[in-house]
Amino acid sequence: MMTTATAHSNIALVKYWGKRDPALNLPAAGSLSLALGGLTTTTTVRRTTDDRDLLVLDGSRADPAATSRVSAFVDLVRAMASSDDRVAIETRNDFPTAAGLASSASGFAALALAATRAFGVQLDDDAISALARRGSGSAARSIPGGWAVMNAGQRDDGADAFATELAGPDHWDLRCVVMVTAAGEKRIGSTDGMNHTMRTSAFYSAWVDSVPLDLEEGRRAVLDRDFERLTTVAERSALRMHASALAADPGVLYWNGSTVELIHRVRDARRSGTPVFFTIDAGPHVKAFCPADAVDAVVDLADDSSVDVIVSGPGGGATLVSE
Ligand code: PMV
Repeated sequence: MMTTATAHSNIALVKYWGKRDPALNLPAAGSLSLALGGLTTTTTVRRTTDDRDLLVLDGSRADPAATSRVSAFVDLVRAMASSDDRVAIETRNDFPTAAGLASSASGFAALALAATRAFGVQLDDDAISALARRGSGSAARSIPGGWAVMNAGQRDDGADAFATELAGPDHWDLRCVVMVTAAGEKRIGSTDGMNHTMRTSAFYSAWVDSVPLDLEEGRRAVLDRDFERLTTVAERSALRMHASALAADPGVLYWNGSTVELIHRVRDARRSGTPVFFTIDAGPHVKAFCPADAVDAVVDLADDSSVDVIVSGPGGGATLVSE
């Protein structure tokens, strides 16, 4: 049996950075994101009689670390289905995986949907989102897609820690201009950076305490399509997240020189009247958000030949393509 699903990547405007339970990947606080229709992962899962799982990523066999992370995730589905079947997984990103863009979000969302269907496990969207969270916290938000809110949840088993749609992709036609400032994988992955921040940062608890208010303001800004308010909340959330990482011991610094230069350019452009704000994840790339009619001006901010640009609009939720 072969099952194919697709999911879009998403970018958080109120960041997730820290876990209340690392084993179950339960977030310490909620988050808010927009799915990006232009960054898509397509994943096919086939049950096999082989004695091990196979993962093929963009046409090449994945390395052992990636394969075992994915196998551990599929184990959760096998347990639900009471099956020992191994799987052959083929996954493709239509964006550069190695650039450290959020491929784990779209990847685990597409896999959660395809794998549950391949094993005949019937879950509602909330439960699939909670399952995707076990692969990668941000993946939970790629199940509903659109403007999504991740609930921190309170239960120890994590059943209430899933994402739901705040508004559909058609609610607000913002664009995300991804400015890729470096090639290659990021030096410190989000899991390691997050765990290190939790363990050693003098600012970690202040960061976590700051999230609920940002989340409330961020939700309101999205529902009211209030760009100015979203600008304030999103830049504040990103900078506070990075401040908590910088205050770890030793500090985690994800930015390079171009990252800082682009932050200044975004803010200068805003002062000159272009509606634009930035956010930055666990890497050096700058994601600039703006209304559709400001895209050309925002793309021009990254006019260096060393910065690749990907422009995306809002995307929908994870979907089953075939089974
Ligand atoms: O989903 P993870 O475990 O890779 O963590 C994502 C962390 C950030 O991208 C930095 C923030 C977020 O909310 O997506």
